[in-house]
Amino acid sequence: MTGGRFDHLRLDKVCRRFGERLVLDSLDLQIAGGEFVALLGPSGCGKSTALNCIAGLLPLSAGSIWLDERRIDTLPPERRGFGMVFQNYALFPHLSVRANVGFGLRMRGVGRAETRRRVHQALELVQLTEYAARLPGQLSGGQQQRVAIARAIVIEPPLVLMDEPLSNLDAALRLEMRTEIRRLHQELGLTTIYVTHDQEEALSLADRLVVLREGVEQQVGTPEELYRAPANAYVAGFMGYRNLFPVTVTAMHGETATAAGSGIELVGLARGAAEGKPAIVAIRPEDFSVVDTAVPPGSGRLTADSAPLAAQGGANTLAVDVEVVEYHGREQAVLARLPGGLPLRIRTVARLAPGDAVTVRVPIEQVLVFAADTATAEAVAELPEFTVPSDGFGDLDGPPAGVAAGPPAGAADNRTAAP
Ligand SMILES: Nc1ncnc2c1ncn2[C@@H]1O[C@H](COP(=O)(O)OP(=O)(O)OP(=O)(O)O)[C@@H](O)[C@H]1O
Ligand SMILES: [Mg+2]
Repeated sequence: MTGGRFDHLRLDKVCRRFGERLVLDSLDLQIAGGEFVALLGPSGCGKSTALNCIAGLLPLSAGSIWLDERRIDTLPPERRGFGMVFQNYALFPHLSVRANVGFGLRMRGVGRAETRRRVHQALELVQLTEYAARLPGQLSGGQQQRVAIARAIVIEPPLVLMDEPLSNLDAALRLEMRTEIRRLHQELGLTTIYVTHDQEEALSLADRLVVLREGVEQQVGTPEELYRAPANAYVAGFMGYRNLFPVTVTAMHGETATAAGSGIELVGLARGAAEGKPAIVAIRPEDFSVVDTAVPPGSGRLTADSAPLAAQGGANTLAVDVEVVEYHGREQAVLARLPGGLPLRIRTVARLAPGDAVTVRVPIEQVLVFAADTATAEAVAELPEFTVPSDGFGDLDGPPAGVAAGPPAGAADNRTAAP
């Protein structure tokens, strides 16, 4: 089921305005045939706009889109012939599953026998053959989404566009469908552009990720590249660096930078940071280790004007007060408070309880010190999940667990990581 193969799709300085507002700003992107690319970014960053521009549902304000040597942004959607899966399924409620899936083929004038054969094959792929006669309303959300996927792939499109296809599903079904989508991609070799605001989904599904911020491309690369070397603090925030603090670089020493502010002082790897300039330190929760749980409350704290680290005899240690502990099976997700008042997120196998005063340490090579322009600082501040302590953790390795307001002893359910 792989008609209309192409070598590459190319977006050349694609712009889209709504009134005065530039929602897509010179998007350049080349996608190879057979690739699975995820567009990742928060709500309102322009993901659906980009997808709709590619599908032909929205005209471009400037720029062009090419399929190999053919310019396609001037073609109407039906002449592009891409498969589209929408967030809300968009199935015909009065048509059976079979008729929904076959709709696109009938519109294209494909004969009855051929339509029947291809619909059957598509339903087999999404494992829904026994539901062919049902109406969408008689199916679960996950089954409806599989119908929508079957409908998109049955036309054998050169390109499948998926806009947050799993966001309406519950956590377990989301994981199942994610595997399903990846399996279909591997089996059919379909080129896929997949829109999501969920970094975990993007990392697990895509060959390459494109991170967007306010319509501007921030970084393009493999999951590994983005995870290991995020280009800026914004991308880092999407790649699991849940602790992002505004600081000032107080000293540079070759590859490393000392940064202070927000009640902390840390040494980390310099990523475009310069002495005397504002910066953002980024640290993953799992990179902290608890070195001392016996610190009495109120002592050993670092403050903004505390002595240099060297004088304290321990690089990258922070004294924090534990506020909230979530049980995640082998590990705990801990929300702690820095002396300056900022929240610090930690994942640790150490057993901590609310009210504990502890010292944590992070290796220099796990601390990234990014240059902060005002826009970056504002964007970081705007991402509530990175700074607001009360909204759960949303870590890369599982659904947010219930908040345990006390030690984990006796917690029965084992919420270990998703596969
Ligand atoms: N038809 C429209 N008229 C005016 N503004 C629009 C229109 N469609 C989208 N926008 C604006 O363009 C920006 C990008 O919207 P878009 O739907 O592409 O975001 P998104 O990244 O898909 O967000 P979400 O994750 O919430 O779906 C938003 O600020 C939105 O308000
Ligand atoms: Mg959208």
